[in-house]
Amino acid sequence: MENASFIIEGGRRLSGEIEIQGAKNSVLPILAAAVLCEGKCVIHKCPRLSDVDSAVAILEHLGCKVNRLDTSVEVDASVIERSHIPARLMRRMRSSVIFLGALLGRTGEADAAYPGGCELGPRPIDLHLGALSQMGAVITEEYGHIICKSGAAKETCIDLSFPSVGATENIMLFAARGRARVTIINAAREPEIADLGEFLNKAGARVRGAGTGVITIEGSLRLSGCEHTVISDRIAAATYMCAAAATGGEITINGADPAHLGSIAAAMKQSGCRIALGERAVSIEAPKEIRPVKLIRTMPYPGFPTDAQAILMAYLTRARGVSVFIENIFESRYRHADELVSMGADISVNGRVCVVSGVGELTGARVRACDLRGGAALAVAALSARGTSEIYNISHIERGYERFDEVLSSLGAQIMRKKI
Ligand code: EPZ
Repeated sequence: MENASFIIEGGRRLSGEIEIQGAKNSVLPILAAAVLCEGKCVIHKCPRLSDVDSAVAILEHLGCKVNRLDTSVEVDASVIERSHIPARLMRRMRSSVIFLGALLGRTGEADAAYPGGCELGPRPIDLHLGALSQMGAVITEEYGHIICKSGAAKETCIDLSFPSVGATENIMLFAARGRARVTIINAAREPEIADLGEFLNKAGARVRGAGTGVITIEGSLRLSGCEHTVISDRIAAATYMCAAAATGGEITINGADPAHLGSIAAAMKQSGCRIALGERAVSIEAPKEIRPVKLIRTMPYPGFPTDAQAILMAYLTRARGVSVFIENIFESRYRHADELVSMGADISVNGRVCVVSGVGELTGARVRACDLRGGAALAVAALSARGTSEIYNISHIERGYERFDEVLSSLGAQIMRKKI
């Protein structure tokens, strides 16, 4: 991935309309689900992201024919040539662990390198492996590899101790071509789960309750290719909402699904934003004066999403008062705080609690993206800061945001991508 930075001239009010990208966290499990289908899948609103490129590299390694069209991607998994994924492909993207369930469902075996941790802290997969073995898979781990073989199918009820998004997806993928009914209790309820369930039903599985806490999957011995349009990216929408609010602007995001933005919109309204929710659009107008949000606790959906924590924090650094964040999902998700402090923010972190005392203004600085959403948060801060900022390590940002600089420029931001 090439080395590049964003140079942002702050202080410009954002205004205008954008079309929101397809959801990264929906298209990734759906690309894995294509492995289950003996035929061609066409997936629309597939965003151009480096994480999507990483998933496509795995699909092609497995033997799929992949054809990238403008906003769609065609995946033909008629022939799967191997069920082994090497470390060089697994490490590019942590969420590649969900290919385990897809390969088990399709070929009855999977051999993948451990996906490893990431910038958010250790990323255990005990819930994934525990569930797969409950479903009859025989799992061994050696030399950093996870080796799975599907055993005798049996009706299973899996009670997740935490509503893990990835574990829920892995179970759904393995069960979709299974021969026994699988029930998930305490399943993740994110909209991306419902989207995966819809895709699997189009392919011929029988998934009920996806998007709620109880999901039942009755697999089919054969799944066929299908056509599907991915839902819109609610975290990308939240990012552009915060960018507009932080710069005193007013924008409309076309294609956004208001039903997925409830907790984000509620927090932004508390800060004084005016938000209008349309059928398939969200409009936001910045407050004259940003009010603090007393307490933001990240929770599993439909609670406030952990992925929007850094982004909202960047916006609230200039509120007139104190906002308190409690990060309940990941162990280490405040690495953006130090970078925001170098721009003049007043932030103190103590374990899972982060106290943000609003300041009158931020000033541009040289800052470094440490992870995807933390990097986007630095851009939100830089857009509202006085002067020029340079954000390094923007490959983190480009994992999840399609044409990030072009979208912001279309709203009036002065942002330039510089190759280093
Ligand atoms: C998905 O990650 C998303 N990624 C994340 O978005 C998102 O932050 C997260 O869900 C929570 O909403 C994708 O969908 C590709 P989890 P995932 O399993 O599946 C612990 C972004 O910015 N856990 O719900 O990895 C885990 O350590 C990314 O787009 C276990 O302990 O999240 C974490 O503390 C970042 N054991 C918590 O559960 C397990 O086996 C939530 O993890 C699995 C998870």
